[in-house]
Amino acid sequence: MDLDLKGKSVIITGGGSNIGRAITLGFAKEGANITIADIDPGQAEKVAEEARKLGASGAQVVKTDVTDYDSVGKMVNAAREKYGRIDVLVNNVGWDRLMFFTKTTPDLWEQIIKINFVGVLNCTKQVLDTMIDQNEGAIISISSDASRQGEPTEAVYGGMKAAVNSFMKTIAKENGRFGIRCNVVCPGITVSESPEELGEKSMWSTKDVDFSEDQLAKVAKLMPLKKIGRPGDIAGAVLYFASNKVAGHATGQILSVSGGYSMIG
Ligand SMILES: NC(=O)c1ccc[n+]([C@@H]2O[C@H](COP(=O)([O-])OP(=O)(O)OC[C@H]3O[C@@H](n4cnc5c(N)ncnc54)[C@H](O)[C@@H]3O)[C@@H](O)[C@H]2O)c1
Repeated sequence: MDLDLKGKSVIITGGGSNIGRAITLGFAKEGANITIADIDPGQAEKVAEEARKLGASGAQVVKTDVTDYDSVGKMVNAAREKYGRIDVLVNNVGWDRLMFFTKTTPDLWEQIIKINFVGVLNCTKQVLDTMIDQNEGAIISISSDASRQGEPTEAVYGGMKAAVNSFMKTIAKENGRFGIRCNVVCPGITVSESPEELGEKSMWSTKDVDFSEDQLAKVAKLMPLKKIGRPGDIAGAVLYFASNKVAGHATGQILSVSGGYSMIG
């Protein structure tokens, strides 16, 4: 099905690894003009090269720290200067360190709050004026099922992702009159197909995450669909929300793509 995303100017934060990489390659196959905003430009450039081969109309990397408002501003200017407009923003960057709340420290909370929530505020604020002038735009934030039902070892992260969900609904209500749609995709556990899909700054490249086949099989048993999520599963939902053609009447929505782990009425 043609999603009418060819030539659209799309920013993907954290597009260098795992879910962000799959989202980037999904837009590439649709022929979009892509800006990967990642703190790791080396890894992002590898993905940009793949995107060009898959049919992206354009693919540039802008080294960006989403927690830094000025860095985000420069990245948004670079996207607008290269492609003339900004049609889609995907707020994909997120980060966590899994541990019970009793073990956490205020320094860790601050880091989690900045990356998962302030990063989304920075990027959304920096694109809105352009989208309002265009009278068109789509913003998709990648949240988490941890925001919907609470997840042990993810207390602050889940709280910040819940803040993202609420923020996106408000932005949807404030800006619907300008033709701007804002939606949220909540992954459950989503594991890359190979280590090459992860840059050094990916939260999965640390050794404290157990990727063994045994562990993944145990987790899969908890899911109604009895399988682990893969990055491409999330990309499909993002492309749907990005497309005015198929999702032109959908805004303020939160969609779990997690093998049925979360089922919210
Ligand atoms: N993978 C999962 O199981 C899972 C589950 C639920 C939700 N999520 C959410 O999905 C999104 C993507 O997760 P992932 O697993 O692909 O992440 P990841 O850690 O594998 O990749 C994150 C990417 O963002 C970049 N990045 C990190 N900090 C940055 C910063 N300050 N500024 C710009 N770029 C930065 C990294 O270089 C990397 O390329 C996140 O929002 C995450 O919270 C993931």
